[in-house]
Amino acid sequence: MTSAEEELKPYLVVDPHEMSERVDALRRQGKRIGLVPTMGALHLGHLSLAIAAKNECDVTIVSDFVNPTQFAPNEDFDKYPRTLDADIDLLSKIGTDFIFAPSANAMYPRGFDASVRVGGVSQLLEGRFRPTHFDGVCLVVLKLFNITRADVAYFGQKDYQQVQVVKKMVEDLNVPIEIEMLPIIRERDGLAMSSRNRYLSDEERKESLVLNKALDKAEELIKGGERESAVVYDAMRKIIEEAKDAKIDYMHIGDPKSLLEMERISGNVAVLLAVRVGETRLIDNRLIERK
Ligand code: PAF
Repeated sequence: MTSAEEELKPYLVVDPHEMSERVDALRRQGKRIGLVPTMGALHLGHLSLAIAAKNECDVTIVSDFVNPTQFAPNEDFDKYPRTLDADIDLLSKIGTDFIFAPSANAMYPRGFDASVRVGGVSQLLEGRFRPTHFDGVCLVVLKLFNITRADVAYFGQKDYQQVQVVKKMVEDLNVPIEIEMLPIIRERDGLAMSSRNRYLSDEERKESLVLNKALDKAEELIKGGERESAVVYDAMRKIIEEAKDAKIDYMHIGDPKSLLEMERISGNVAVLLAVRVGETRLIDNRLIERK
């Protein structure tokens, strides 16, 4: 590696106190700080967030931490991909300033005993299937906001419900940060990028295209004037059931902010899907604007 490339490497910080001290010094110089919270295993979806942060902020931090508190005991915490070296290489290419990769012990030291709970929007959908998930997400995200003192944090629309939950937490707890949501980045064939796509076998990878196809159909019907959610669900189900290994956890048409379900569609809606393809659980969504 040449020294020019080395200079672009993000500075790796593992200690939360060091992260806060470094950011405090930068804030005193009036720098705008942008944070991209991730669990690593970075793909183009994450990079689109880090590039936006780079364009809009003076200093960018990408956090890279597989957060144990958002996984239930039966979930994939142990097998979740950990690719820190590759992540650093990717971030070097776009000039990210810091990569914050603490250990679980640094984030949750012995005696740690706090929790964060957001009601309402966190209880639906993912909240039903993964009842402790958003408590863990809110806990770590609030810690990351506090540690990095970021002015703005970037999240992907792929985890649409997560963004609404984080926004509600920020609103309810007066957290001084802006939340920016950026569009889903898809593979050429339409599959939403996700660190979990690597779990799919070749056959499952093909079958997983039914999620995006079902959302295309929902969009076509809703934009064409369909008002009955049940009709849209039926059409989506037909498409998803074409994949023999696909099992629907939920299909949901709801208000874009509260996510409360709409039986009759009016105004803008969010359509959300969770489908298990073999052992892999995939989520996807579409925001549909109606005039
Ligand atoms: O979306 C994710 O990768 C995680 O839920 C987040 C926001 C980084 C918290 O661990």
